[in-house]
Amino acid sequence: MSTTRSPSPEPTPLIRLESVSKAFALPDGTRFDAVREVSLDIAEGDAFGLVGRSGAGKSTLLRLINLLERPDAGRVQVAGRDLTGLSRRELRDVRQGIGMIFQQFNLLQNATVFDNVAFALRIHGRHSRSEIDRRVHECLEWVGLPDKIHSYPAQLSGGQKQRVAIARALAPGPKVLLCDEPTSALDSETTRSLLQTLGDIRRQLGVTIVIVTHELPVVEQLCRRVAILEQGQVVEQFDLDRPAELPRQSALGREIDELLRRRETPSPPGPTPSLHAAERRYA
Ligand SMILES: Nc1ncnc2c1ncn2[C@@H]1O[C@H](COP(=O)(O)OP(=O)(O)OP(=O)(O)O)[C@@H](O)[C@H]1O
Ligand SMILES: [Mg+2]
Repeated sequence: MSTTRSPSPEPTPLIRLESVSKAFALPDGTRFDAVREVSLDIAEGDAFGLVGRSGAGKSTLLRLINLLERPDAGRVQVAGRDLTGLSRRELRDVRQGIGMIFQQFNLLQNATVFDNVAFALRIHGRHSRSEIDRRVHECLEWVGLPDKIHSYPAQLSGGQKQRVAIARALAPGPKVLLCDEPTSALDSETTRSLLQTLGDIRRQLGVTIVIVTHELPVVEQLCRRVAILEQGQVVEQFDLDRPAELPRQSALGREIDELLRRRETPSPPGPTPSLHAAERRYA
């Protein structure tokens, strides 16, 4: 009997962008290419960072994944379905599987935490009251906020508001969570604890996370793979499990490598080295 095995095929990525492009019409009549022929595969269960300077096209690229922006060219596939070819109704159903959170939380100010989280379940009308009640409690447990269920957003801190937004995004049971600078409005301690929660959600619920950020410590703490964007294009992408043997192509790639190297080098006795230089934003 032969002992040779054919190599196992690469698993199909959960998200596949094929040569997607997006241009915006500017008031002076010219067109601006925000995303230019980007191809990207994101594996199921991954924590994938989209990193780049302000205006690089990160948010536009993220919004192409759930078709909040429709590409001018190229294809967007999620879980094997080509979203660009779906009807409005089909797209609405598929979007149930793709949650999203934002820098400014985007909560309903006049609704309680319960109603904010229940919102996504109610608009689909397929769930009974008791199902909604159970699901809202479950989601608030995941983000550590069960005791705030009757509060209004104005009564919460920024970190707590973002936790409510995460609970709301998780309520329909998404496979993917798109995060657009979710920690940019938070201090570094709150950021660390929120990223810990996102990491737990990825590991325990198997939710694939795609996160846009300027902050390299965010990449370091949460991401397993990163793509660097410059002027609407992916200039390089790599795994974060270890520093590269050859220098990275982009300045941001080299900065990330430097962080990984520092993490691998045992700290000398004395005060812990500061991460302040790396914590500066790349705006
Ligand atoms: N609706 C729009 N109309 C015109 N131009 C737009 C529109 N949306 C984005 N742009 C332009 O496309 C480019 C990329 O924008 P995008 O918001 O994707 O950048 P970003 O990398 O997320 O930046 P930031 O880090 O500042 O959020 C920018 O130059 C922006 O001005
Ligand atoms: Mg942005």
